[in-house]
Amino acid sequence: MCLTGINSDPVRSSVFSFRGKVMGKGFFISKAVAVTCAVAAVGAVATIIALSVVYAQEKSKNEEAPSSTTSPSTGPSTGPSTGPSTGPTTGPTTNSTTPSTPKEPWQRYRLPDSLAPVSYNVTLWPRLEPNKAGLYIFSGHSAVVFRCVKETDLILIHSNMLNLTNFEGHHAKLTGLGGTTAPGLKETWLEVPTEYLVVRLNSPLQAGGMYELYTDFIGELADDLGGFYRSEYTEDGVKKIVATTQMQPTDARKAFPCFDEPAMKAVFHITLIHPQETVALSNSMNYEPNNITMEGLNLIQTSFMPTEIMSTYLLAFVVSEFKSISPKAKADVLVRIWARRKAIDEGQGDYALEKTGPILSFFEKYYNSSYPLSKSDQIALPDFSAGAMENWGLITYRETALLYDPNVSSNGDKEWVATVISHELAHMWFGNLVTTRWWNDLWLNEGFATYVSYLGANFAEPTWNMKDLIVLNQIVGVMSVDALASSHPLSSKEEDVLTPDQISELFDSITYSKGAAVLRMLSEFITEDVFSKGLSTYLDAFKYNNTVYTDLWKHLQMAVDSSNITLPHSVEVIMNRWILQMGFPVVTINTNTGIITQKHFLLDPDSVVDRPSEFKYEWFVPLTWIKTGGAEQQYWLLNKEATNTNVTLAGTDDWLVANIKMKGFYRVNYDSDNWERLLTKLSTDHRAIPEINRAQLIDDAFNLARARIVSTTLALRTTKYLNKEVAYMPWETAERSLSYFFLMFDRSEVYGPMQVYLFEHILEGKHTLKSYAMHIICKYLLLYCLHSIYSSGLPEETVNPQCMRYTVYCSAIAAGGVEEWDFAWSMFRNTTIATEADKLMSALSCTKQPWLLNRYLEYCLDPQKIRKQDATSTIVSIASNVLGQPLAWDFVRAKWDHIFNDYGGGSFSFGGLISGLTRRFSTEFEYQQLLQFKKDNAGQLGSATTALEQALESTKANMNWVTRNKKPVLDWFQNETKPPV
Ligand SMILES: *[C@@H]1O[C@H](CO)[C@@H](O)[C@H](O)[C@H]1NC(C)=O
Ligand SMILES: *[C@@H]1O[C@H](CO)[C@@H](O)[C@H](O)[C@H]1NC(C)=O
Ligand SMILES: *[C@@H]1O[C@H](CO)[C@@H](O)[C@H](O)[C@H]1NC(C)=O
Ligand SMILES: [Zn+2]
Repeated sequence: MCLTGINSDPVRSSVFSFRGKVMGKGFFISKAVAVTCAVAAVGAVATIIALSVVYAQEKSKNEEAPSSTTSPSTGPSTGPSTGPSTGPTTGPTTNSTTPSTPKEPWQRYRLPDSLAPVSYNVTLWPRLEPNKAGLYIFSGHSAVVFRCVKETDLILIHSNMLNLTNFEGHHAKLTGLGGTTAPGLKETWLEVPTEYLVVRLNSPLQAGGMYELYTDFIGELADDLGGFYRSEYTEDGVKKIVATTQMQPTDARKAFPCFDEPAMKAVFHITLIHPQETVALSNSMNYEPNNITMEGLNLIQTSFMPTEIMSTYLLAFVVSEFKSISPKAKADVLVRIWARRKAIDEGQGDYALEKTGPILSFFEKYYNSSYPLSKSDQIALPDFSAGAMENWGLITYRETALLYDPNVSSNGDKEWVATVISHELAHMWFGNLVTTRWWNDLWLNEGFATYVSYLGANFAEPTWNMKDLIVLNQIVGVMSVDALASSHPLSSKEEDVLTPDQISELFDSITYSKGAAVLRMLSEFITEDVFSKGLSTYLDAFKYNNTVYTDLWKHLQMAVDSSNITLPHSVEVIMNRWILQMGFPVVTINTNTGIITQKHFLLDPDSVVDRPSEFKYEWFVPLTWIKTGGAEQQYWLLNKEATNTNVTLAGTDDWLVANIKMKGFYRVNYDSDNWERLLTKLSTDHRAIPEINRAQLIDDAFNLARARIVSTTLALRTTKYLNKEVAYMPWETAERSLSYFFLMFDRSEVYGPMQVYLFEHILEGKHTLKSYAMHIICKYLLLYCLHSIYSSGLPEETVNPQCMRYTVYCSAIAAGGVEEWDFAWSMFRNTTIATEADKLMSALSCTKQPWLLNRYLEYCLDPQKIRKQDATSTIVSIASNVLGQPLAWDFVRAKWDHIFNDYGGGSFSFGGLISGLTRRFSTEFEYQQLLQFKKDNAGQLGSATTALEQALESTKANMNWVTRNKKPVLDWFQNETKPPV
């Protein structure tokens, strides 16, 4: 699965904070400026009427413009970072919440190993119209054939929220197959807490015997985004219903009774019954549909070919009126892109279609394994909780993750589409063909897909520099999460992950982004070639089967052994330190003495680590460095300290930068002499240091300063050279680092000089940006826009309008009142383009009218107004507005019961709600409020539990930081912005 990555996107949050500050200072946002920000050429058109005018003009402008933009832009509202880059870490809670093993097997969350499913025949009939009681339902029946492995008189099979038909007083029928006689049923019941159908038998099943269990059931086709659920949209004024699924991790049991664990692989024969005007899709190719009559209705029955042997969480069924496109040329694998008819007609699926084939062939080559299925359907759904889901052969997406409209969407939107497609296709082998045995190894599945998605996207879009962008999109963000004492190791023990809540908590940024970072580090030190050789034998050895993570280590080790790579320890021994203990080291390099040391890096040095580690928070660190522009060198740091290394520098002009291309998951600190030389190098000849490392120097310095390892002023000094910098990554990093300052010095006297520094000193001289990558241009223009609001100086460049849309909308809505807000709201309601809807949805939170913000908050909990999939991200958007922050916090506290019950379940961004709401918290008062909230809602926090702990930790750290840094930071900015005497 791919998470949404939207509300936790640091780009977006920093944009909000800049805007908040600029406007908060009370500049008059003239109508002209709002428009200027959008398209320099447009001229003065009144505020929100501008929205529509600009919209039209942008459209026509874009039609003329050659579509030769070179690389993707990070549009502010698009959030193109794969996975939850700064989302909260959650992960399994401590042993205190794990109940001791209950006595009865049906009270335990794990299935016994006595039965093994072989095949299922499942027929489902979703009703796309409500019944008399106003309820949308589906009915169905299922027969599962299973083998008895160990004699038992108990059948446990998952079933959740299904009403089962009675047969002679029992919830199921049991038959023996192949001459075996089935025992009689003693009693059957639904065990609600553990989500089982329990079948007790009069006598035991025989080991080796085959049996069939038949059930018939009715379930609700609810709008809850989980299991078999309902999505709605309007087309030409007509409401349309889509029946679709999201099974991962534990909701297949909501669609039909099944052995719902990833190792319980089986073959599935699926049949769907559906209305005449609809098409039915599932994992495998369909047979010719039949017309049938049921309950007096003329319907279609579509049966699907048996699936490959697969896990339940990868099943998918969709019934819709969607339309598809596929390539003109015939190929071995049928690729189809499905979406709303309008979206397909407008060409919004074309980009996905164009890129799917190449990415599939890339992975076939990378894995040295042909695509395991005969077709690859990808479908964009109007309501979808995550970003996308890798159902085998039928990948489901949020619309913004699959559809792309070149006239309206930004390059950042495009980058997101390419990355998500690549992520999901990577799973077709890694995850689907070979599946980890239990959810505790989710990090391997998701970390891997996240890492290789950048390789696939790089192949599809070679000019985008995707292999470097993984650092910005995934790695630096998760480092600030993993530097908290409340972080957790990547790998969990199987027995610590039992309940659906515990499983859902694993879908966090540690799993995705740190998983990707450590696998990338491994791939780098054994080389990509050896890595892919090991993968290939791993996939071949375990196809259609299940593994634990050490199986991958074994195969990578075999590949290493048959290469000329030498490692100081085995792959497993090296990697244990990175996956079995949380956190990562800060490596300190002393270029005077040649001594290198490592230490667990904690963002708040006062925090207490109470999670023990058998490795004592030491790592085997693959160090790399460059001295004074020379060749890259490698060195394994295997202990706490290494002496007599050759990091020493000869001349006073020499410098050293370590962790080249940020290949390793660690931070680097230097002796102060080397820091000074690096600062000098940056200001005189920054290009001598690779682009990623320039970004890394800024990122490391700011984080080391947070941890009180270097001074805050040293960190600030790394930004001084930016007035010469034209590359995207250093800028982006600086902006994110400074956004923390903006958040913390909200409404304080530091703000004025800080703003002058940024807009007058750093941005000065940036007037000749014509030919740089779109990434930079969009980023600069955003800053320019703010700059121009500040100084009335206007950039002269022709603007790529797509990357400015959000800024236009936001500025206009901020400057306007209810009329403008309502106008934008109606644009939001009427657009058929999901990326556009997303931008408008965020921009609506830019208003400065408290009552409009409150009204918008209310809208968030009305699914007729804001889709459930977007509720938490919209609340977080509102909270990122300075004025909206306290309103959103009050609102969430007041409505917690409702939000928890209606939005907690299917929403993977639930933890992100808490972290988004509390991002600015930095006072004792706010800390006390958080504590109170925790007390008031004990037992009602679900997957937000860990996020709340982290919010408490961050608030404390923020309080300390502000106390310590306010004065030196104010002094520094004042000094830097002093007019020359
Ligand atoms: C967790 O387990 C450890 C070791 O088994 C024990 O020392 C500790 O007290 C437990 N923590 C809680 C909160 O129960
Ligand atoms: C399941 O369906 C397949 C194909 O329709 C059929 O061949 C098979 O006999 C069915 N099995 C059971 C147990 O009903
Ligand atoms: C299942 O049964 C319960 C209790 O009778 C009822 O309230 C609910 O509506 C039923 N669900 C469906 C989908 O029919
Ligand atoms: Zn995934």
